[in-house]
This record gives sequence, structure tokens and C-alpha cells, in this order.
Amino acid sequence: MAEKKQKEPKNELMEKIVSLCKRRGFIFQGSEVYGGLAGTYDWGHFGVALKNSIKQAWWKKFVDSRRDMYGIDAAILMNAKVWEASGHVAGFSDPTEDGKQFNVMFKTSVGAGEEAATSYLRPETAQGMFVNFKNTVDAFHPKLPFGMAQIGKAFRNEIAPRDFIFRQREFEQMEIEYFVREEDWERYFEYWKGEMLEWMEEVGLDMNKVHELEVEEADRAHYSKRTIDFEFDYPFGRKELFGLAYRTNFDLNNHKLEYIDEEALGKTVPHVIEPTFGVDRAILALLLSAYTEEEKDGEVREYLKLKPNIAPVICAVSPLLKNKPELVEYANTKVYAPLKMEFGRVAWDDNGNIGKRYRRQDEVGTPFCIVVDFDTLSDDAVTVRDRDTGSQARVKVSELKKYISERL
Ligand code: GAP
Repeated sequence: MAEKKQKEPKNELMEKIVSLCKRRGFIFQGSEVYGGLAGTYDWGHFGVALKNSIKQAWWKKFVDSRRDMYGIDAAILMNAKVWEASGHVAGFSDPTEDGKQFNVMFKTSVGAGEEAATSYLRPETAQGMFVNFKNTVDAFHPKLPFGMAQIGKAFRNEIAPRDFIFRQREFEQMEIEYFVREEDWERYFEYWKGEMLEWMEEVGLDMNKVHELEVEEADRAHYSKRTIDFEFDYPFGRKELFGLAYRTNFDLNNHKLEYIDEEALGKTVPHVIEPTFGVDRAILALLLSAYTEEEKDGEVREYLKLKPNIAPVICAVSPLLKNKPELVEYANTKVYAPLKMEFGRVAWDDNGNIGKRYRRQDEVGTPFCIVVDFDTLSDDAVTVRDRDTGSQARVKVSELKKYISERL
């Protein structure tokens, strides 16, 4: 029988985050109606929106804003020879409880009957880039240094998946393979360290909780000559968030790939600096960074202090009363529809009283709640309530797009 939902150790903050994620439609246990499947999670409407924000922020910074980066979206299923050459078949193992080594790649077969070939679900997106190195060079003729970037799913049959989305069996990575001349590796290693830290700050991670760990040789992956783990102070301890590795030219060498360096007038096998980011750990660290509790008049207000450009909902629109057709009509046609066209991530919320709507939007991390009231019908202005301060501003409907854009 399939292994079911994992038992999480008790941690009050983690329980609050897990519960909020379920209650507000961010993240659900995978296969929940059948008792769950350990190490898998399903992403609800707001979870997908948050993930998309994170992935877009990453792609914008590391691909779209640069001239030396080439995107790729490689197949998850690859020829098994890829994983033999990369060293994963021989060495991508974790010790089991009784010390037997267990290869954490998911094995599958491709094709029917005796013709079926063994394959694996990729345990890292990296190899999809290495095996497309020649295609990319032939298509775009990049000069060194240059990089390839990919966002996609990775799978590991983790022996002990745990801590919510921290250690899963199916997760997502955002990875860069940056190809350099061997003599330049140290310089680019430092450069990418800076770029990674900058991105973490840009999306809103609590940088006081981010720490660098120089990984000792015995703990490094088989391909790495130097690795820094960026660790995060999760409620269950200080653990890995992202990584930065110097992979030498191990992978390109093993795949027998080379590059004609016109400047150095000869064939070479470039060396690789690899900044790697787990999407799910980015989201967990972000939720933990943004989660805020505030006590006021004996009541606790929970909210996600997400940056407006990252939040799953940029603004929510409410008619003060949902049984007043003139308010509903105005809110829908003059406020919600144009904002939805402009920003996409706009919610309609007319459920319960205004206080309840604010609480709900606070938990989603919505930075602006817009209320259409009776005055709106005569002054064409709405109330915009700020998530973090609770302060309210009266803004002309004609100025709303500008008001929000300026704050994104
Ligand atoms: N290509 C290099 C590589 O895969 P890694 O440190 O094994 O390196 C990269 O994985 C990142 O993927 C980690 O820093 C982490 O953010 C994420 N990650 C790894 N295993 C994970 C898991 N079981 N669940 C969620 N995220 C994971």
C-alpha cells in the first residue's frame, strides 16, 4: 500500500502556517481525500499565485534582465545514460536507518513490454541544461562566460520527507549553470553569491534569518569542489534554503561536451558555477518571513506582510453591503473590472462583514482592500485600507490604478 501522510513533529508556528495555508487555499496535503501521500503537496489558487510571483521575480532578474543567460525547459524524463554519466545512478544515495545505501532517484520504465527502457524522474533540473549545452551553443553562439537557466520539477524518493514543504518527494527548482573559464571560477563564485543574496532580499526574505555555511568536503555532492549553503532559521532549526556550488567541469566532461573558445583559440570544457534555488523552500521561508501576529484590543490579528508585487492578491474589492445592488454594480463595473484587467491578481470579496473581509485578506497577504460605500456613489472615491498599518485613505476611482501601481 502507498505510504501515507507523514507525521509532523509539533511546532506551534509551523502549525499556524500549515493551517493558514490550508484555510486560505495556498497549500494542501497531496491526495488528501485518500489519507495523503507522504512528501507531496497540492497548490491551491493563492499558492499557485505566490509560486508564480516567485518564479517570475527569479526569471526577470536572472534571465530577462541579462544578455548572457539562455532559458531552457528540458524534458523531465531523460535517457538513463544521462544519470549514469552524471554519477547519480552510482552515487545519489542516502543512508537508510540500518545504514544501507538507498538511491533516492525514482525509477520508471518508458515504453511497453520487453521494449521498455529504464528511466528516472530527474532529481535535479541541472542535467537538462548540461545535455543541452551543445544545442544552446550551436543555436546562440554565446561567448564565455554565459549561463543557462531552468525552472522545473525535480523528484527525490526522500527516505524521511518532513517539515511541510521543506523536504518533499516532488518539488520545484530554479537553477542556473554558469559556464566560465577555469581560472575565473572564484571570481564568479563570489559574484553569484552576491546575486543570490540580492534576490532573496528583493523578494522579501527576512535576511536576519539567512546564513551562509561553507560546506565541508565530506558533506559536498560528488561533483562539487566548493559549496555554500544558504541556510534559513526555520522554526524546526537552521537548515538549507538554497545552494551555490562550483561543479568544476565534471558534468560537461562526463557528457563528453566541449566548447570552442575563440578568444583562447582552442577547444575547452568550461567550468560551472551553479546557483540553485528550491521554489518550495523559497515559499516556506517567505511565508515564515511574512507571517505577523499583532495584538490589538485583546484580539490577535494574523497577516502576511508580503511585498505587494509578490502577494497572491494585489487588491481586493468589496461593496460595503452585498444586498445593495447599486453598490454591487458600481464596485463590479467601475472598480473591480478595470483593476482586474490591469493587475490580474485582484479579488472580489463580499462575504461577511467588512471586519471579517479584512481579516481574511490579511491572512492572504492582500496589501490593499478597496471598499465601495454609499459616498462613492456621489463622490466617485473609495476607501483603500492598508494591510500593515490598517490606515485608510480616500482615493478617487479615476486615480486607483495609479495609486496601486506606485505601490507595487
Ligand atoms: N543541482 C544541484 C542540486 O540539486 P541540491 O542542494 O540537492 O542541489 C537544490 O538541491 C535545492 O533544491 C536545495 O537548495 C533546496 O532548496 C531544494 N531541495 C532539495 N531537495 C528538496 C526536497 N526534498 N524538498 C524540497 N526542496 C528541495
